[in-house]
Amino acid sequence: MKIDLLSPESFAAGHPFAQYAFLRENAPVFWHEEPNGPGFWAVTRYKDVWDVDRGFQAFSSEPTIMIQDPAAEAALGFGGYKMMLMMDPPQHTAYRKLIRNEFTVPVSAERTPRMNALARQIVDAVIEKGECDFVSEIAGEMPSYVIAELLGIPLDDGRELYKLTEIIHTAPEVQEANAGGMAVLKMFEYGRGVIAEKRARPANDLATKLLQAEVDGKRLDDIEFLLFFLLLIDAGGDTTRNLLSAGLIALLENPGQLAWLKADLPNRLPAAREELLRWTTPVVYMRRTARRDTPLGGETIREGQKVVMYFGSANRDPEKFERADTLDLSRSPNEHIAFGTGPHGCLGQHIARIEIDAILSEVLTRMDRLEIAGDPEWLPSNFISGPRRLPVRFKPSLPLPAGLCT
Ligand code: HEM
Repeated sequence: MKIDLLSPESFAAGHPFAQYAFLRENAPVFWHEEPNGPGFWAVTRYKDVWDVDRGFQAFSSEPTIMIQDPAAEAALGFGGYKMMLMMDPPQHTAYRKLIRNEFTVPVSAERTPRMNALARQIVDAVIEKGECDFVSEIAGEMPSYVIAELLGIPLDDGRELYKLTEIIHTAPEVQEANAGGMAVLKMFEYGRGVIAEKRARPANDLATKLLQAEVDGKRLDDIEFLLFFLLLIDAGGDTTRNLLSAGLIALLENPGQLAWLKADLPNRLPAAREELLRWTTPVVYMRRTARRDTPLGGETIREGQKVVMYFGSANRDPEKFERADTLDLSRSPNEHIAFGTGPHGCLGQHIARIEIDAILSEVLTRMDRLEIAGDPEWLPSNFISGPRRLPVRFKPSLPLPAGLCT
């Protein structure tokens, strides 16, 4: 089988599950050639992905978590600065501590009523039309509004910033030269305005808290703030959007499962959402770099080599999941690794779960005869997986007769 986990074409209709299965079976730690680089180890079994993600002593997040080395970022003049996603403990621990209290289960749960209201508003905007692009008009709206609310910026600006995220995550070969770099610069330009605004008028939001936060007794400087800002917008945007869009495709392709879910939505949604996370796995990979020679899956990783964890493959590993290639919305337990694990495990996962539940509840109760109305178009990216266009058709559900309540 031809293995190519780099070219965006391999991801043109979602994860390359056939390649993953071949690798898990035949070369679970596989040396992958890289046309413009030294090559990397592709890790595809659940157990090995788990060990690499938790084993920060052997596998570093520096200099980057992308397969390509950070020439582009260096060219933008980040100097010695980096996002916490690309730091190791103890430095990473100190930075993550600055915002982790905003993302705990109870603090995230406090946001539920507001997120439910946003979901209602999003569906209100399209329900009478009878058709829409599910990605841009529903799934993408939610995370851009939520991030905007968290940071304390206008909702419409969240939407514009989110468009920049999509450009950043699109493979460079399928868009204009340096489009990604320009999008990062635009994001920073906006972030500088946020710094000025929040310094002049501090508020009860994450942007203000970050500007007032200290690491080792020193406040974050502008660049450190901008990198946090970029990380939050980037990490929380098209991940959630893609889960919702690819998740909807999975539901519509499995009508029996969808009917099971709708028969008792409030009680069945939590398990269903976790299975959709396993099934769609929006983040394709994270890279680490070996700090020392380390054995892994029968190979020896040499110091300095790149090691790439394929979460979508780990989530279909039959050694970990019974009937791994079957969508089973009632699956329990479901120890998927769609949010990663270890020190960098997704900080926004509790918020993401609330967003997902809010949108799916609205969509599945208010949209009747929901169906796909054209070919989905997938994001040409080997890093983030999901459709970027998904035309759907539906009828507004009829209100329940007076006297009946759910
Ligand atoms: C379905 C939605 C999401 C998925 C699938 C997802 C997935 C991930 C993954 C795989 C990682 C890397 C974990 C690792 O290296 O082990 C990550 C990190 C991160 N995510 Fe998410 N994410 C989602 C939503 C969100 C949201 C909504 C936010 C914020 C509001 C967020 C914020 C972050 C941050 C800040 C990090 C970096 C954590 C660190 O470096 O310590 N994510 N996410």
